[in-house]
Amino acid sequence: MLEVTDLRKSFSSPDGERSEILDVPSFSLAAGAQLALRGESGSGKSTFLNLIAGILTADSGRIAIEGEEMTALSESRRDRLRAAKIGYIFQTFNLLQGYTVLENVVLGMCFGPRGADRRHAREVLERVGLGHRLDHFPRQLSTGQQQRVAVARALVNWPKLVLADEPTGNLDHKHGQVALALIREVCHEQGAALLLVSHDEQVLAAFETRQDFTALNRAIAGT
Ligand SMILES: Nc1ncnc2c1ncn2[C@@H]1O[C@H](COP(=O)(O)OP(=O)(O)O)[C@@H](O)[C@H]1O
Ligand SMILES: [Mg+2]
Repeated sequence: MLEVTDLRKSFSSPDGERSEILDVPSFSLAAGAQLALRGESGSGKSTFLNLIAGILTADSGRIAIEGEEMTALSESRRDRLRAAKIGYIFQTFNLLQGYTVLENVVLGMCFGPRGADRRHAREVLERVGLGHRLDHFPRQLSTGQQQRVAVARALVNWPKLVLADEPTGNLDHKHGQVALALIREVCHEQGAALLLVSHDEQVLAAFETRQDFTALNRAIAGT
């Protein structure tokens, strides 16, 4: 469902020097599969996920999601493709602080394929164990609960692909393991593929299928 070919990305440093961060000749993920990519901090994992999500644009190469080429689209079409097919779980959650738990999830549906549906948002929040916190604001929640809101928001649009960027990086070990199990379960229930990146061996150990991002990314492998 995800095909990446000859993907390259470089950034300019403040002194104007360009450095290549990403050079991924080939990567793919099957529908419904769960894969963890292992990579050190600074190896380009977040950049890779942001390219797949269409938040960043590549210098060259191709990213196709269910055959639709993200890399060929305008920014607004990329935004639409992301809303239709991708759920993104950020390390720092990225919740809107001025909105309640329910509103955070409903707002995530506004650009989605089926529009805002409070009842479905409530169901997904109940599924992640937050049915009793719908009217709370993010700051009134524990870090683990905030993570659950982020999981609900990522899953609420029936995505085909869930991207998780160090999703347990801000949780202690116990809550991290619980959150990880929840993410894997809800992806499985919805038939969404899961691509998770992490440098945490305990997170990576939970996955049957792991790949070394450093081996995928020639920009790192060559240095
Ligand atoms: N917008 C940017 N401008 C310049 N350099 C960047 C930018 N984003 C990331 N980088 C650099 O790209 C490299 C990879 O970053 P990142 O993808 O965040 O790695 P990771 O998620 O694996 O820690 C780092 O060296 C980082 O400093
Ligand atoms: Mg990162």
